[in-house]
Amino acid sequence: MSINKVKSLKGEITVPGDKSISHRGVMFGSISEGTTELTGFLDGADCRSTISCFKAMGIDIVQDNDHVVIHGKGLNGLSAPSKMLDVGNSGTTTRLISGILAGQSFTSSLNGDESIQKRPMGRIITPLTQMGANIRSIKNNGCAPLEIGGSPLTPIHYDSPVASAQVKSCVLLAGLYADGITSVTEPVLSRNHTELMLSGFGANIKSQGHTASIEGHPVLTGQKIEVPGDISSAAYFIAAGLICPNADLLIKNVNTNPSRAGIIKVAQEMGGNIKLLNERIVSGEPVADIHVSSSKLRGCEISGEIIPALIDEIPIIAVMAAFAEGTTVIKDASELKVKESDRIATVTENLKNMGGNITPTDDGMIITGGASLKGTRINTYLDHRIAMSFAIAGLAADGETTFDNEACCQISYPDFFKTIGAIVNR
Ligand code: S3P
Repeated sequence: MSINKVKSLKGEITVPGDKSISHRGVMFGSISEGTTELTGFLDGADCRSTISCFKAMGIDIVQDNDHVVIHGKGLNGLSAPSKMLDVGNSGTTTRLISGILAGQSFTSSLNGDESIQKRPMGRIITPLTQMGANIRSIKNNGCAPLEIGGSPLTPIHYDSPVASAQVKSCVLLAGLYADGITSVTEPVLSRNHTELMLSGFGANIKSQGHTASIEGHPVLTGQKIEVPGDISSAAYFIAAGLICPNADLLIKNVNTNPSRAGIIKVAQEMGGNIKLLNERIVSGEPVADIHVSSSKLRGCEISGEIIPALIDEIPIIAVMAAFAEGTTVIKDASELKVKESDRIATVTENLKNMGGNITPTDDGMIITGGASLKGTRINTYLDHRIAMSFAIAGLAADGETTFDNEACCQISYPDFFKTIGAIVNR
């Protein structure tokens, strides 16, 4: 695969279903009574990992591309898997499923790929242990593989040191199996899809300020859910529309939940031509069509409360910053170091290789725009968001951009290069 500079970018596109919502739909459907039907499901490798884990625990799940039907067996209907659950590359699967497994009456174990085996699981082992779960890192290094011995759980209040929806969701899901109210307070609000969706399935779940609380042992009932387009996937085309010449793109049906949509605010602050059209609520989530066109961007500072709402978009925001006038400072984002790759390091390496002006910091990066970027071979570190971010940089850079491995896009956006092909004009 190679990417070259475009003369113009035009069209109307849709992006695949939201990854966070797709995972949750499968998980919550599996532990609900009756049938859950998901349309617009993200048929990518990460969400397939979630499906295969629940199938391995006896749940009948029928998938036809983006249409998934889950025949749930209720809160206590999972059966012991006959072998280690395979979570693939998916941090969301690992951390959320651990909360559910902690409340079962059987022992299970899970493992994933090389990247998953380096990602910190101490952040879920700590609260689950406080709830009485028998969970351990098999290699005793705070990472997967994990063994989780089902045991009775007691509710806790957990003050999470990190703003992580995966940690929050893990504790809330374990709370489904505890007698009483389990609550989590986070330093900064992270994405709230778990709270919105579990409430739709019938859980008694409340959010107040930075605290979410849930009552144990509800009856969850299967739902019909229309999964909206993923803002994290739309982000690549938002950026492309802003940085490429003669661009005019309409990205239809995108989730714009404020706890996720920080990139829209940043694009506006950078002076981008971005408009939300046809705003509506679908399956409890805010959705809109997003219109973008070529813009003269300027640098800005991104820090504090907005960081969790754009944590996955920082690689593509760094690309936007490289095409902006002035300096962009990204702070309070040390979580980037523990994503699918160390994204402070991998963004820095690739942007530098393209001729960009970037300085990594301990909790972010400083990018000065205006250097003319040149195509190069991108070292993806098998991180889907690195591959896609630098593919977009390649659309506006001189020369040719190639990849050591572009197949990693399968994780969240299998048709990414096809969509690019449909809108470019060289
Ligand atoms: C996710 C939460 C985020 C995000 C990840 C998906 C989720 O992780 O980076 O891609 O679906 O809950 P953290 O909450 O751990 O930051």
